[in-house]
Amino acid sequence: MADTSSTAAVPATRTLPRHLAIIMDGNGRWARKRLLPRIAGHRRGVEVVRSTVQACVQKGIEFLTLFAFSSENWRRPADEVSFLMQLFMLALEREVAKLHKNNIRFRVIGDLTRFEPRLIRLIAEAEQLTRENTRLTLTVAANYGGRWDMIQAVGRMLKDHPQLAAGFTEADLQPYLSLAYAPEPDFFIRTGGEQRISNFLLWQLAYTEMYFTDTLWPDFDTAAFERAIASYQRRERRFGRTSEQVRTAAAQNALPHATEGRAR
Ligand code: IPE
Ligand code: IPE
Ligand code: MG
Repeated sequence: MADTSSTAAVPATRTLPRHLAIIMDGNGRWARKRLLPRIAGHRRGVEVVRSTVQACVQKGIEFLTLFAFSSENWRRPADEVSFLMQLFMLALEREVAKLHKNNIRFRVIGDLTRFEPRLIRLIAEAEQLTRENTRLTLTVAANYGGRWDMIQAVGRMLKDHPQLAAGFTEADLQPYLSLAYAPEPDFFIRTGGEQRISNFLLWQLAYTEMYFTDTLWPDFDTAAFERAIASYQRRERRFGRTSEQVRTAAAQNALPHATEGRAR
């Protein structure tokens, strides 16, 4: 099982996030500013996904979760939705071998039932090929919604354990959530200027450090990534304790707080 819940126990904090979750927003505006069709922004966005994955690998971040398509994005014009699906398939076809070569495990979370069979097959093949990889787990959230996630988790849990209808704990539910294989995100980035969650990881972001930037996703280059990480590194994660408690604990080396870098 993944690490315990941040609301139930204090996870070890590190100087680097172990798990980074990103809402990649602003592709359409990036394109419009250049008098290009919105889809040009999505195309450019894929390149930034590539450089962000590389940056995470270089830094030693273990989990990267990207919001690619929300359960609400079906409301967009049909031709944009269809372009996004084509782009996803193309990216899978082109990039999966490279991900595998770089020891990256690939996962998709979300309700896949609405996708066309070819996309479902590509996803399954990519997950199967990369399942044993250990360097970075790259999760793409596609047709994902935080509320959908909680409801599907409760449903599957009760199917397996009908007696839990009388009452259950976070620990009972945890294995059924989409990201059960990952610790909760330490750090959340949203590009594009909006300061909202847009139904992304509602359960898992309970104690995540948040970072909002006006930089549009296609402009989110390595320097912008570094600025975000630097912001995370200045944060004090108290998890309900006082600042004094956190500092005393760190000074006494009583908590993994004082540990430099990643403790594996
Ligand atoms: C994010 O960029 C990508 C997806 C939602 C697929 P947008 O397409 O939302 O870009 P803006 O917000 O319109 O600029
Ligand atoms: C959120 O972006 C979803 C993704 C980035 C995939 P949106 O651009 O769809 O979000 P809202 O609707 O403006 O909040
Ligand atoms: Mg948007």
